[in-house]
Amino acid sequence: MNSLWIDSVKGLSKFETLDKNLETDICIIGAGIFGMTCGYYLSHLGYKVILIDKNNLAGTTSFTTGKITSQHGLFYSYLNTSYDMHFAKDYLEVNEKAIKNIQDIINKEEIDCDFEIQNSYVYTTKKEELALLEKEQKVLEDLDYHAKLTKNVSLPFETEGALCFKNQAKFNPLKYILGLAKTIIEKNGQIYTNTIAVDIEKDKNNSIVYADTGKMIKAKHVIIATRYPFMNVPGFYFSKLYQSTSYIVALDTKKELLNDMYINVSSPIYSFRSAKFNGKDILLIASGNCKTGHDYSHENPYDTLKNFAKLYYPDCETLYEWSSEDCISLDKLPYIGKYSSLLPNVYVGTGFKKWGMTLSNVAANLIVDEICERKNPYAYLFDSTRFGLFKNFDEVKNMVVDSTNSLLLNKLKSSNVSLENIKTNSGAIIELDVKKVGIYRDKENQIHAINPICTHLGCLLTWNDIDKTWDCPCHGSRYDAMGKNLYGPAFKNLEIYQ
Ligand code: FES
Repeated sequence: MNSLWIDSVKGLSKFETLDKNLETDICIIGAGIFGMTCGYYLSHLGYKVILIDKNNLAGTTSFTTGKITSQHGLFYSYLNTSYDMHFAKDYLEVNEKAIKNIQDIINKEEIDCDFEIQNSYVYTTKKEELALLEKEQKVLEDLDYHAKLTKNVSLPFETEGALCFKNQAKFNPLKYILGLAKTIIEKNGQIYTNTIAVDIEKDKNNSIVYADTGKMIKAKHVIIATRYPFMNVPGFYFSKLYQSTSYIVALDTKKELLNDMYINVSSPIYSFRSAKFNGKDILLIASGNCKTGHDYSHENPYDTLKNFAKLYYPDCETLYEWSSEDCISLDKLPYIGKYSSLLPNVYVGTGFKKWGMTLSNVAANLIVDEICERKNPYAYLFDSTRFGLFKNFDEVKNMVVDSTNSLLLNKLKSSNVSLENIKTNSGAIIELDVKKVGIYRDKENQIHAINPICTHLGCLLTWNDIDKTWDCPCHGSRYDAMGKNLYGPAFKNLEIYQ
């Protein structure tokens, strides 16, 4: 799976795999936008920084839409209702600052990443949803933020209304990350790829990060910047996060494109922006809010997006299609700060929902302030050790039900699929000698068999026929058809059966 961002850079720089023990001030696990932003700030403050990543750079960031905005759907009504005005105001303020911070970095480091200031809109085509936009506007007004409600937008169809945040931005996230990587290296930072962190241990005032290469890094501070924290205990983040898959198509519409960025109010979600690619303006449409590992029986989401686009751009040509994974907390707020009181110099930033471009900058600033022992007035918004899960009781209930089913009940159910029924380039779980076996029949009709038990905490996987992956309904780990781990929290591959 390739995204437009990956093909828009001239090959990703190659870095070495960790093959020696090292000592440093800061070890950052995960070289996506959050890890890189931490690395950027800390290396510029004079800290010795080492980043490691299990793949190459920007594993998750390469598959986002690259919107930089403080408009996270109709989030301010939610914050106002679930918390209070002051909380909502601070959330808005810190996200607005993050947009400015990103722009400042790009200007200072002269990063050529197609950064562009644009307006962002939440729109609706349904009359009955207009009241939701009005309610959000009223909350924003109370926060002293003027968000205009208008019908005058550049979408290719009529809306009932759209709520505008001015001076938001978009960019090519991969070009931005490569720019950050360059400056980190110029500041004597080091980056190692294809290096999986498997454990962290406390060692007096330091922490030791163990890698799958058999080597280790001793660090004064460790930042876990993997999208989903890979360590189960302490922290127990797996009990308070789930993952959601979105689908994106990049289209050459052969028509003049919309200005600005858009997302609608309610499901099915459609998110729009344009992007530069090979001198052309390309339209990106994203959709989907599918909990990873659940219900793949609906229409292929890429087809849905392409059919939707054809309504307004009949001659459009699909250049790319890809999916992305997002980590979402049960109360919809990220966890940013200390990983656990048992690991005092280990920090985390996770649960950025679908708004990781902006929130990763927020998180990086908060963690940097923690490390530098500076008080950050916004830290309380994202307290990583909070346990206020019952603000969103339905999500908690869903998580318990999903885990019980996948850990226990589904394993006891017998499969009614037989080997002969599995089509080419498709997969399913079958029963073989009372044992569950995951089968993938490839395009050449060859059979590949895996143990369909997730290597994270043992849930039964499901076959995703859209992306041809094995997905975990419990916490959203994903594996390719042959069992290679793609997305965490699991980091081990599936067992292969001969
Ligand atoms: Fe946790 Fe699979 S991701 S058990």
